[in-house]
Amino acid sequence: MEQLRNRVVDVAKVQTVYMDSLLSSRATPQAESRNLCPRTFQGDTLVTSDIGWWCSGFYPGVLWQVYEATEDTLFRNLAVKHTLPLAGLLERETDHDIGFQLMSSFGKMALDCHSERSEGISPETILARGAETLAGRFIPEAGILRSWNGSRWNIPVIIDNMMNLDLLMVYGDRTVAEKHALTTAANHFREDGTTWHLVDYADDGSILGKQTVQGYADDSAWARGQAWALYGYAQMAQREREAGNEALGQQFYEVAAKLEGWMLPRLPEDGVPYWDFSQKDLRDASAGAILACGFLRMWNLRGCPADDPALAMAGRILRTLASPEYLAEPRTNGGFLLKHSVGNLPGRSEVDVPLTYADYYFLEALHLLPSEH
Ligand code: GLY
Repeated sequence: MEQLRNRVVDVAKVQTVYMDSLLSSRATPQAESRNLCPRTFQGDTLVTSDIGWWCSGFYPGVLWQVYEATEDTLFRNLAVKHTLPLAGLLERETDHDIGFQLMSSFGKMALDCHSERSEGISPETILARGAETLAGRFIPEAGILRSWNGSRWNIPVIIDNMMNLDLLMVYGDRTVAEKHALTTAANHFREDGTTWHLVDYADDGSILGKQTVQGYADDSAWARGQAWALYGYAQMAQREREAGNEALGQQFYEVAAKLEGWMLPRLPEDGVPYWDFSQKDLRDASAGAILACGFLRMWNLRGCPADDPALAMAGRILRTLASPEYLAEPRTNGGFLLKHSVGNLPGRSEVDVPLTYADYYFLEALHLLPSEH
């Protein structure tokens, strides 16, 4: 595994610098850095977004992880360069994704204790302000944080929202995060342990409907949604344990464990899921990478037993993702590491393409995997 990790980090070193050079060649006074967040690579073109897109923090997050793995300040400088524009999020209307955006960028910067800080900006202050904004989305009558802004739903809450709670757990009002996780545990999950994508709440907290917008069908198990749920509850369980809240930690662990038990026997032999568990056409590398992180967090919560099936599955997923089928050749793929992710198939958006979050969670999972595995 150590060899595999080193091989991927070597590819990441080339790809991240290559991506930065592609972005730099686009920079003009009109296209300033806030508009130049990598999003995907399609038709031989690097597609970018503004900082408002939910994925804007992941490329900086990849750079922070490459810096952590190499301790080469070149990557710290690039990480800072691509993190700072995201401070602009605090000056505008945001949504539930502010947790993704800030924790993968400024959250990593806050953890960087190797270097003198000379940027004249406090990541902790940005994160605390972002956490306040996120907490402002809490609807007490429903006990939930609203996901999307203006939409066809009343109070839409998507399972992905679980991933934003860590911003509150670390830098904000953790009681809001806990209430959201408890309400979601009560309403988002099916009898078999899988989750719907979206629950729409009335103002009084009653439920108007349940759907799977980005999956195959309302009653199917959209792979990335299951991955967000597994990771989200494992992360909450870990935070509660760290705080000594064993009972609440156990409650969150059990939500994740039931889903984990459903998924393990249903994954393909090589571990990388199809974009929806009911389908057998396209794989989703992003869901694979997030699942690997979720499995490794669950393994950790169980005390790291050597014969854990989730550990074995995470290893299988990572070996597959590191194979030529998924891992890009250096200086191809727009600078992304992984090929073959599915963003939103029903919306016909980002189908079988590279995506920043696949790369971000791939590196995280490789870091979490024990060397001797
Ligand atoms: N909104 C996050 C996702 O597409 O998974």
